[in-house]
Order: sequence, then C-alpha cells, then structure tokens
Amino acid sequence: MSKKVIDLLNQARERELHAIMSYMVQHYELDDAGYDKLGSRIKEIAIAEMKHAEELGERILFLGGVPATKPAADVKKGLSIPDMMKHDIGLETDAVKMYNSSAVTCAAEGDNVSKAIFEKLLDDEEGHLDEFQKTIEHIEKLGDVYINSLIG
Ligand SMILES: [Fe+2]
Ligand SMILES: [Fe+2]
Repeated sequence: MSKKVIDLLNQARERELHAIMSYMVQHYELDDAGYDKLGSRIKEIAIAEMKHAEELGERILFLGGVPATKPAADVKKGLSIPDMMKHDIGLETDAVKMYNSSAVTCAAEGDNVSKAIFEKLLDDEEGHLDEFQKTIEHIEKLGDVYINSLIG
C-alpha cells in the first residue's frame, strides 16, 4: 500500500483534530457568552469533524499505518464572532483544497477507497464552508441585529 496515501490521510487527520479542538473551544466560548444558537451549530460541526478524524484513522489502520494524534496547529481562543467565522472559513477553505488534491493523488496511486473517503469529506467541508460564509455575510449586512439573533 502507498505510503503517499497514508501520509495524506494522516495530514488530513491532523487537520481534522485541529478543527475539532477549534470548534469545541468556540462552542464553549459562545455558550458561555450566551450565543447558544451559534454555539450549538458549531458543536454539531465539531462532531462531524470527529467522525471525519475517526474515518481517516480507520482507513490509515487498514492500510497498515499509525493514525496521527497531534492536531495540525494550536487552537486560537477568544476570537470575536466575525473573527471566528473568518478563521473557520480559512480552515474549511484549506480542507477543500487539500481534499480535492488528495482525492486526485489517491486515484493516481490506484486507491479508490481512500479517494472516495476524501470525496465524502470534501462534500461535508464544502457545506461547512458555505454555512460559515453565509454567517459572515449576514453579519456584514446586518451587524449587531444578526449577532443578537444568535443568542439562544
Ligand atoms: Fe472535516
Ligand atoms: Fe469542516
């Protein structure tokens, strides 16, 4: 089995671990500040990323690799809601780029199961990206009126 594919799966897993930690921290901060509505949604996205990390880990194990346990970066704390959204748009944009190119590499390596995993994750990340982009658009258009609507 291809070491190249295992490395790509592990790089993705490290990104997922970073996204999980980031979104859980944001969920706690938002809940704590009373923005339960946005907080609950970000919690759901964190759980989706947990499933991604798990699926990648299982594939890595199947291919004879060792699933990574270290997040790709440190978590940024204390961001304002608009900065949080911009930060998350960055994470999802990078994931979309990386998973697109990883799917192509998996196909070239003759590993269509790993390719399909990247494509499935890609579909979810595009959804997250769209959601975060819409949230920032609403904030830019409506300002505090929209931010206040995020209180649970
Ligand atoms: Fe993910
Ligand atoms: Fe995502």
